[in-house]
Amino acid sequence: MPRVLVVGQGAREHALAIALAKEATVWVAPGNAGTASCASNLPISSFDNEAIAAAAYVNQIDLVVVGPEMPLTLGLVDTLVTRGIPAFGPTREGARLEGSKSYMKEVLREAGVKSAAFAVFDDPSIARDYIISAARPLVVKADGLAAGKGVVVAQSTAEALEAIEQMMVKRVFGEAGARVVVEEVLAGEEASFHVVCDGDRAFALPPSQDHKRIFDGDKGPNTGGMGAYGPAPIVPPALAEHLIDTVIEPTLAVLKRRGHAFKGCLFAGLMVQNGEAHVLEFNVRFGDPETGVLVPLLDGSWFELLHSAATGSLASFKGTVSNSHALSIVLASHGYPAQVRTGDLIHGLDEVVDATVLHAGTRVHADGGVETTGGRVLNVVGVGESLEDAARRAYAAAGKIRFEGMQLRGDIGARALRR
Ligand code: AMP
Ligand code: GLY
Repeated sequence: MPRVLVVGQGAREHALAIALAKEATVWVAPGNAGTASCASNLPISSFDNEAIAAAAYVNQIDLVVVGPEMPLTLGLVDTLVTRGIPAFGPTREGARLEGSKSYMKEVLREAGVKSAAFAVFDDPSIARDYIISAARPLVVKADGLAAGKGVVVAQSTAEALEAIEQMMVKRVFGEAGARVVVEEVLAGEEASFHVVCDGDRAFALPPSQDHKRIFDGDKGPNTGGMGAYGPAPIVPPALAEHLIDTVIEPTLAVLKRRGHAFKGCLFAGLMVQNGEAHVLEFNVRFGDPETGVLVPLLDGSWFELLHSAATGSLASFKGTVSNSHALSIVLASHGYPAQVRTGDLIHGLDEVVDATVLHAGTRVHADGGVETTGGRVLNVVGVGESLEDAARRAYAAAGKIRFEGMQLRGDIGARALRR
């Protein structure tokens, strides 16, 4: 059996670990209470490149799969590849696509991809002048990684100026806000498009949709994502094919020309309106919660898919996308996404049938139970022949699980179900 090390500790990594464990021996660094039951957790920080490389060597790992963006931007894949260890994920240079929004916009422009008009600023006073003279709603984005909080969709000039103050002057995101991208506001519905790349070729996974706000009806503050489903009908197959031709292939060609052929998951965040898609951003990794619904929608081997991408041999991959539907519901802690309470005991995990429970912020409690340790605690994933089917299974399973202060949305998939 091949030996695989997954880096990360969320529901994304648990979903991948479950799939990989069907055909490989799996380790997860650092993992969570869920990954502990399908793999061996290693008490190593996902930011510690050296420790991960050492663990990969000691455990004779055939493939390292890197989940989150931070280790990628810290050059984990470079470290591993230098030592001859195959790794799924882009190099540090490839990860700049997510690590710097101005760089991403530059690549999009060079590739001729449809995206919001933008300007880049390193000087707050020039940014202010631009915003005042534009006198319309604008989006202000910190250039660097800001844990998903570095984007302000400003309805007024005052709000945009405040964002400049916070990011560039007060440096609430540190150096990530030293440079900002200011762009036009796009209207429409968002969707997530994931493709697995081997440097040249891309294998497209079904388009999916996340639910970013905490409350039903897309109300309340933004979160890391409260649930997802796929395939998302907002991106029908013809549009997905068009996106391969007009977004993915031109982008891969630009990156290759620049000497940074992209290996790993390229995840385009889209804004779709009237059947037309603009790219809001690229991520260089699988989405979370999207991965929970993408994993069951592959008919084929996840090990083979990720290994062939890492080794530049995607042409020989034999899997296809399945005809099923999947839907996931995030169960979040009391207080999320603001002040999160942890340490609540989780009940009912054993009562779930007909759905997969992915762990995110969980830990095995001293007395053997499982307790909450973070904002997003669990994902419950239902799979079915229709989206209705998948939703029914996921909600039935979520109804079995209880912990103090548990929050979930009751309308995951509602947009697609209404269609
Ligand atoms: P990003 O990290 O660039 O995807 O931005 C985070 C979120 O901000 C997106 O998921 C959108 O909800 C919103 N957003 C970003 N850019 C725009 C834009 N140009 N127009 C409207 N909303 C945007
Ligand atoms: N679900 C959005 C993300 O992973 O960035």
